[in-house]
Amino acid sequence: MNSTTHVAFVGLGYIGLPTAVVMANSGLRVTGVDVNAENVEKINRGVVTIVEPGLEEELAKALSSGNFSATTEQVHADAYIIAVPTPFTDDRNVDMKFIYSAAEAIAPLLEGNELVVLESTSPPLTTKKMADRILELRPDLRADVSEEEADDKTLFFAHCPERILPGKAMAELRSNDRIIGGQSAEATRRATAIYAHFCQGELLPTDDVTAEMAKLTENSFRDVNIAFANELSIISDKLGINVWELIDLANHHPRVNILQPGPGVGGHCIAVDPWFIVSAAPNESQLIHTARVVNDSKPQWVLDQVKEAAQRSSSRTIAVLGLAFKANIDDLRESPSLSIAIDIAQTFPGDEILVVEPNVAELPPSLGCFSNVRLANVDEALATAKVVALLVDHDEFKSIDPEALKSKEVIDTKGIWG
Ligand SMILES: NC(=O)c1ccc[n+]([C@@H]2O[C@H](COP(=O)([O-])OP(=O)(O)OC[C@H]3O[C@@H](n4cnc5c(N)ncnc54)[C@H](O)[C@@H]3O)[C@@H](O)[C@H]2O)c1
Repeated sequence: MNSTTHVAFVGLGYIGLPTAVVMANSGLRVTGVDVNAENVEKINRGVVTIVEPGLEEELAKALSSGNFSATTEQVHADAYIIAVPTPFTDDRNVDMKFIYSAAEAIAPLLEGNELVVLESTSPPLTTKKMADRILELRPDLRADVSEEEADDKTLFFAHCPERILPGKAMAELRSNDRIIGGQSAEATRRATAIYAHFCQGELLPTDDVTAEMAKLTENSFRDVNIAFANELSIISDKLGINVWELIDLANHHPRVNILQPGPGVGGHCIAVDPWFIVSAAPNESQLIHTARVVNDSKPQWVLDQVKEAAQRSSSRTIAVLGLAFKANIDDLRESPSLSIAIDIAQTFPGDEILVVEPNVAELPPSLGCFSNVRLANVDEALATAKVVALLVDHDEFKSIDPEALKSKEVIDTKGIWG
């Protein structure tokens, strides 16, 4: 792969758009392909479609260099990189429809000798399923899965998972280590050559199934550890112990590093990816499964705390601080805080619920539909409410004067007020 290698980047969302422009700015010729015509049109005008610091400047540079353009029509390329959604179905298995639709669009254009990389987070064997779908449609081509010599009708498949942190994507795309899992040694070599263009981190060769499992393992590691912290928080509450002091003390052990408890686990990665392991090996994934159940049950425990606090309180105006799934972002997807806020609104229909979320301009419809709920600023909420439920450790909440919380019932799910 040289700098004139043509890469088609399929799926221009939170992962695809930043990666495609970073690749183009490293000298590769990149065509971004997305089914969303409105976004494609904006991207070609240099208008960013996601919030990501530094992306707008990098997009402008990629467009003006002539190395990057976006289209809704699939193109022929030397390499395809696919970053389409992988949501789960009702039975918590992966929904393959986006991967299959991308594979079906690519298949007719293939000539042989192309590389197809799946970046979407996927259960084990998904890269193989994608390859099988392409080969079903193109029986004249074959996959390079053995040591036998490739010919001009051979296709190469690999899985290269993504682990960037939204908000730091432009730097982490270049600095993070990358796992490069080819179905064959030649597929790994070809994929490594592409990622080496822009990635200064270590490029770690493996096979496709191990690469798929590695990404799921990273997020399951965090989920299991957060479940441990969440369980400790419930035990500590029962025993009258401050869980944050407890964890801080335990973490002074040189080989202990417990994560922090919270109101639950949200977002579209840590709360989703462990289920892909559970669905692949249900009987063997008991710890991973239990961690999901523990984390998913934490919002109910927080709601029970709010109910008890409301019973003790003279006034039932409740302040809910934070809706996002983590601090200092506006992303409410799979957010346990949002689901707790909805439960509070339902549980106290006659009481006023003042929601403070500094990162959104209006309440999401699922919460805005309650007549007893309104968006407030932090001063107004604290001046009125006698019960305060802190659900997200946004910076704005860390600076609240402890005096303002005196004589209130406080549920601090993030331990920011000691
Ligand atoms: N967002 C993250 O922080 C993150 C981090 C690591 C891994 N991932 C994984 O990366 C993958 C993509 O996630 P995302 O957050 O970028 O999703 P996204 O929803 O932001 O973007 C996906 C894009 O794919 C497009 N698309 C869907 N089907 C298509 C098709 N057939 N052809 C072309 N385009 C198509 C959509 O229009 C959309 O623009 C997922 O598997 C996700 O789990 C995401």
